[in-house]
Formats: sequence, C-alpha cells, structure tokens
Amino acid sequence: MGDNLKTLSLDEVAQHNTSESCWVILYGIVYDVTDFLNEHPAGPQAILRLAGKDATEEFDPIHPPGTLEGYLSSKTKVGKVDPAELAKKAESGVAASTAPERDPPLESLLNLDEIEALATKKISKKAWSYYYSAGDDLWSKSYNNAAYRSILLRPRVFIDVTACDLSTTFLGHRVGMPIFVCPAAMARLAHPDGEAGIARAAARFGAMQVVSNNASMTPEQIVEGAPADQVFGWQLYVQKERKHSIAMLERIHKLPNYKFICLTLDAPFPGKRELDEKMQWEGSGAFTVTAEGKGANERRPGGGGVGQQLFWGTASDLTWKTTLDWLAAHTHLPIVLKGVQTHEDAYLAAQYAPQVKAVLLSNHGGRALDTAPPAIHTLLEIRKYCPEVFGQIEVWVDGGIKRGTDVVKALCLGAKGVGLGRAALFGLGAGGEAGVERVLEILKAETETAVRLLGASSVDELGPQFLNTRILERDIYDGPSGLDNSKLWSKAKL
Ligand code: LAC
Repeated sequence: MGDNLKTLSLDEVAQHNTSESCWVILYGIVYDVTDFLNEHPAGPQAILRLAGKDATEEFDPIHPPGTLEGYLSSKTKVGKVDPAELAKKAESGVAASTAPERDPPLESLLNLDEIEALATKKISKKAWSYYYSAGDDLWSKSYNNAAYRSILLRPRVFIDVTACDLSTTFLGHRVGMPIFVCPAAMARLAHPDGEAGIARAAARFGAMQVVSNNASMTPEQIVEGAPADQVFGWQLYVQKERKHSIAMLERIHKLPNYKFICLTLDAPFPGKRELDEKMQWEGSGAFTVTAEGKGANERRPGGGGVGQQLFWGTASDLTWKTTLDWLAAHTHLPIVLKGVQTHEDAYLAAQYAPQVKAVLLSNHGGRALDTAPPAIHTLLEIRKYCPEVFGQIEVWVDGGIKRGTDVVKALCLGAKGVGLGRAALFGLGAGGEAGVERVLEILKAETETAVRLLGASSVDELGPQFLNTRILERDIYDGPSGLDNSKLWSKAKL
C-alpha cells in the first residue's frame, strides 16, 4: 500500500492543519480529509484536533477494521511518510521512563475493585477517563452500587447446599450463569484483545455478551470462532442516518450467534461527563481552532470527550409510536429495550410483547442523567405497581454490580440476569482476555457462595423471602401509578 505515493516530510504535513486544508497521517499514509470533515460521524472537531499530525494511535483503538476504506476514497491519499522519521518523532515525545512495574498475578486479585485498580494503572488516561466517567457528579454511578448494600440478606440454615447451579436462560437460550456482559463501547482502548477477547472469556462461562453499537471491532470479528451455542445480542443506537443502522442490522442477521437486538433508550443524548471532556484539553488532545473557529464550535451537549464523539450520529427522535414498527420492518430478531427507569415504561414495554421480549433496567451506568434511579429501584417499583410485567417479558438489570451478593439481590427481586459494563472493560485493561476471565470467575464464585449461604442451590430457588429491603423501600417512588387510565394497574404488595 502506498508504493506509488510520494514521501512527504512531517513538517510539510504539519502545515495542513486547518479546516481549509486538513491532512492526517494514518498507518504511514497521508490523507487529505478536508472534504470529509463535515461527514465524520463524530463531527469535524474529532479530526481537526489531529490535523497535520499522525492520528494512528488515536484512530486505531476506536475504529473497527474497514472503517477507513468505507469512508475515504483512494483519491484522498496525498502521500506517505518515512516510518523512521515518524518513529523518531514519537520517541522524542516519550518521557524517559523507569523500569515498568511488574503486574501482580491475576489470581492474586480477589475482587472487582482490585481489578479496576490494576486497570487504572495500566490503561491510558484517555481510556480511563472515558470508562470511569459518568454524568455530572457521578451520583447515580455510585448510588447504583450503594443501593445494593442497603438491602440485607435473610439466610436460611439446615439445608443441603452442596450443589449449586447458576445456569439459567435468556429469551429461551441456555446460558451458564445469570451474569452477562453489557454493551460498553471501545474495548480496544483498554487492550488489543478488545471485544473479541471479552467474547472468548465469556465463552468459558457460557456467559451472554451484548455487543456495543460502538464496539472497536466488527460484529463479525467479535463472534469469529465462537461456539454455535454462545449467545450474543447486538446493541442498537439508531443513527440519524437510518441507512447506517439498517445496513448494520443486515450484517447482524448473517451472524447466527446474535440472538436479539438491544435497542438503547437511556441516552438519546450523552450526559455531561466532565472527566471525559477534560481529556480533550490535555496535551496533544487540545483542539486546533481554525481562523473562523469553523468546526470547533459545532458541538453537541455532553462535552467534547470520546462520549460526545460517539454520540454525534445518534438519533434522538425515537418514540414508542414509531420506532418499534420501523424496527419490525428491518429485523426479525426479538427486541430488548435497554434503559427503562420507571415502572410506567416497563409496563409500556410489556404491551409490545412478543416483539419486545425483555427490558434491561439501566441508567446507563450513571453516564446519562445524573440522579436517575438505580435499576434495583426500578425493579422494586415494578414489583409494587405492575408485577404482571414479570410474567410478560424478562426483566434484566445493570449498573453497580460488584459482588455476588449484589447479583443474588437482583435475582431475588425478579431480575432474570445482571449485566456488567465497566467491569469487563477494566478486566481487559488489567489483563486482556485473561483479565475478563478473572472478573467473571470472581463474580461467579462469589454468586455461588451467596446462593449457598442463603440456603439455596440454584438461581430458580431465589426469591424476595431472602431479602430485607425496608431501607430501600423508603426511597422507592410512591406517587400515582401513571397507569390508572389503562384500568390495568394493580398496586401490589412488595
Ligand atoms: C457511552 C455510550 C457510547 O456511554 O454508550 O459512552
């Protein structure tokens, strides 16, 4: 590639750093992307900040293979650079480092916090800021976890708990455990194993994986080599340009491991993630502001970090009335609605069964609307106002799961499964595929311990009798049901 191209010096390339003439270096080739600036799905500033520079390090972990060819014609290639000059420049930017610290063996990490701490040391600040960040004051993010801690367990004794079976089903598909991997974007920011590494680790536990619409690998790469019975879902962020979503659905339909579409509703706009946004001002990440400020001013709410870039093309006009019909015309796969945060919406979702087969109660890991309720609140709300939902569709939860006791609490309240988002990414950051395996191993073992110590031997035996939720009940929504008009509301006892 690039053999007939003329060699340009880095200084020459550096001069093309405005929206009038914008060149970037990718994999040693110089591209003139001036005409493409306004077409980039993440907006012009995503490129302008790298104008005149080598963008490979920024580009590679967040773009699945094929992206470049899909967007830039060969006419945009204006030259190549000398790899030796590039390497010299890269070297000059690296501060003299001390000998790298040796990582502790993964088996010595005993809980999800220890995995996160190791990943935090190992991944780039940009990756950490994107993964760790959440809306505003990160209140929902931390409360997602704290809410579980306020539920007390009621163990029964004098019961044979020698056996313990965590297997269950999602939408009729058998899985090894009720813990699944939630859609979380840009896994290769943490480790080159990426989403495919998560898939291989999940396969060892028969665990389900819902792949992010913003994955850093293609859906084909992620399921390559997966056992036929490994269950995947595909997350759909409907794009403003519907044709992109339709094309993606067509690709998903050709891959039999993908069993459902997880339509995401909790983030029609990104939340304000200050940690992520701050990163654009760090070092070379600063924007190139052009003479007229063109491009740099075109920003959507939610800050200017990785999050904002990813959300650039996302549609915010989805509705109950229009979107499910549109989706039915473009996919035969069942739908899981992700991001339900009130009993009213869970109730509405159940009206769309059997097209909608499950809801994933989620506040987007606290990354969208800060102070939105944790999934466990919504779960209790559904039990209180419209428990019939549990008989009509499956109810899954995510957010704040760090311990096996958190898992069993959600299951006792009727959740069919619990999803992990950041934990899988931090697992990758700590040790690639093996790190994700360690995360799943820890949580599975903790869940088995919790099930046994409660006096149960399978997930089917779990129920609300094992919990004291009084502290949490005080804080559960207690206003009008909002379902009265339908005459179907029954305010049940928790
Ligand atoms: C996020 C999106 C991409 O939370 O799901 O960053």
